[in-house]
Amino acid sequence: MKKKRILTGDRPTGRLHIGHYFGSLKTRLEMQENPEYEPFILIADVQALTDNFNNPEKVRKNVREVAIDYLSVGIDPAKTTIYIQSMIPETAELTVFYSNLVTIARLQRNPTVKTEIAQKKELFGESVTYGFLGYPVSQAADITSFEGELIPVGEDQEPLIEQCREIVRKFNSIYGDILKEPKAVLSNSKRIKGLDGNEKMGKSLGNAIYLSDSEEEITKKVMGAVTDPNRIKKDDLGNPDICMVAYYHNLFTPKEDVKTVCEECKAGKRGCVACKKQLAKNIIEELRPIREKREYYEAHLEEVDKILMEGTERARKVAKETMKKVKDAMMLNYFE
Ligand code: TRP
Repeated sequence: MKKKRILTGDRPTGRLHIGHYFGSLKTRLEMQENPEYEPFILIADVQALTDNFNNPEKVRKNVREVAIDYLSVGIDPAKTTIYIQSMIPETAELTVFYSNLVTIARLQRNPTVKTEIAQKKELFGESVTYGFLGYPVSQAADITSFEGELIPVGEDQEPLIEQCREIVRKFNSIYGDILKEPKAVLSNSKRIKGLDGNEKMGKSLGNAIYLSDSEEEITKKVMGAVTDPNRIKKDDLGNPDICMVAYYHNLFTPKEDVKTVCEECKAGKRGCVACKKQLAKNIIEELRPIREKREYYEAHLEEVDKILMEGTERARKVAKETMKKVKDAMMLNYFE
């Protein structure tokens, strides 16, 4: 049976945090063990430049950081192809062809793009760039260039997959049945709240624990996490439902221990400091193997580069095959 190609990806704009870990990374680790799937992970440096065009150093540095994060959590290059977007020129070419098949009004209506533009007023001012407005077109090129069938996404990415499906249908109706329509699979992964209780954990919000954080950093961050504001002294009765420390205990602490922690908190028998120390210790332990693997790869950067080079080569081969079909269909196959 032919394996289903799966594509996921990240913009390399920072190291990955525990939000990514419980979100996309755990899903990817499961997928690479499924014999029906052939997973690809794209490090989307071209897409990262659409809102970091003024900071190429940041994008460049984070391509490797993100790759090391993938390898450290257990993404296995023998099972998952990791590749760099800018090294697949076919996707840039496809983006140009697809840009005729989508209107400006349609891109402006895309809910994901709309939200992001609103958040990036500082960068874009009153008028957004052509490149940023068009990044869903480039993402459609990523997906179709190697006939991606299933695209595991969080809810916020769904409109991008819908956009890709529209482009595919339009392409096929004009040039013939060449491209495969991808399906979005909503991953069952959770979105993790930040240390401050914000719905989203993120670099710009300063409320994240990174997979690469040291033991001291983790402890310091946990000590600063938001707890029940009404609880001032240890014997005040606490409410774990509005405490971020309790929230993270649920992710990092065995169930029976969580129960004890919460009961003692509600009875005013356990102080926040003790509770935070216990949590910090559990997070440190869970992330220890990841940190240790990171240390290994940091000391063997040539191995990381080799993995990226080989993955990119594999991905490019597939993209070239698609490009040949597309150019034939679009009558761009001169001198053959
Ligand atoms: N848009 C994704 C993000 O913001 C990254 C991405 C680029 C992607 N191309 C993709 C994801 C193709 C899945 C498929 O992180």
